[in-house]
Amino acid sequence: MSSAEQAQPATSTVRARKAVIPAAGLGTRFVPATKVVPKELLPVVDVPALEYIVAEAAAQGLADVLVITGRGKSAIEDHFDAAPQLEDALERKGDKHRLARIRRSTELARMHYTRQPEARGLGDAVSYAEAFVGNEPFAVLLGDDIIDERDVLLARMLDVQAEKGGIVVGLIEVSGAAISLYGSIKPAGEVIDGVIAVETLIEKPKPEEALSNLAVIGRYVLPPEIFDALRRTELGARGELELTDAMRTLGQDGVPVHGVVFSGRRYDTGDRQDYLRAVVRLACEHPELGADFSGWLREFVRTLE
Ligand code: G1P
Repeated sequence: MSSAEQAQPATSTVRARKAVIPAAGLGTRFVPATKVVPKELLPVVDVPALEYIVAEAAAQGLADVLVITGRGKSAIEDHFDAAPQLEDALERKGDKHRLARIRRSTELARMHYTRQPEARGLGDAVSYAEAFVGNEPFAVLLGDDIIDERDVLLARMLDVQAEKGGIVVGLIEVSGAAISLYGSIKPAGEVIDGVIAVETLIEKPKPEEALSNLAVIGRYVLPPEIFDALRRTELGARGELELTDAMRTLGQDGVPVHGVVFSGRRYDTGDRQDYLRAVVRLACEHPELGADFSGWLREFVRTLE
């Protein structure tokens, strides 16, 4: 049997039920904050970035979440575990509100962990999810991308994957040289109802080599055949195993690839500028802090003029 026949998935009718969150990256863009604290736990207002991501998965019924961690990341497991001392202290004070807030992370999903021994790329990280995933489609959510819960992306991606099978990636339109920070797709048609068929993908092209202005963001719904494709994929230009390259391989095998184009609010918390914007924006909208904080911000901005 040829590899193409092997990789041909039945059109999926099962909506993915599991999520994989790669969180083994070193956080070099954010040192020294990330020297000890995993970048995934940096707070966006008062909630660690990763809790937003797990909440997004849980809201879509992805009840089992595998976090791919690495050395120095054990605080992630603690965050999603009970904290008896803290809980006792709050219980004694009768602080039900804070108690609920710290318990939320333990109640969102069934959490699973595995370690990627070396940071050898996103594709390598995802390959450690094979035993957890089994023979079902699954979602991959990157911890750097926070999608505002008021805007729909993952729900649509899961529906499209259940309907069409194969691979579904989240896409945004970017302008100019920004495409070189992302995977880029070559469309196979027009955007219809926010969905576009994808002919092929390449990782972080030079602006002049980009196949379109549609960039892959940190949301994927993948078929289990991706693991075989990852095994068949060579290391990319930056010496890492790229998920983009394995997706291209599957596409070449005849597996359908679609993108869902997102134009809602997204915060790249791995980038310091965008992280700061996310904190300010979400602080302004925060139910407890928002009114006071935005009042202060208005005054502060005036002092800059
Ligand atoms: C990764 C992927 C890239 C994708 C990006 C989205 O890159 O390799 O294809 O566009 O995530 O955030 P990274 O940001 O990890 O370098």
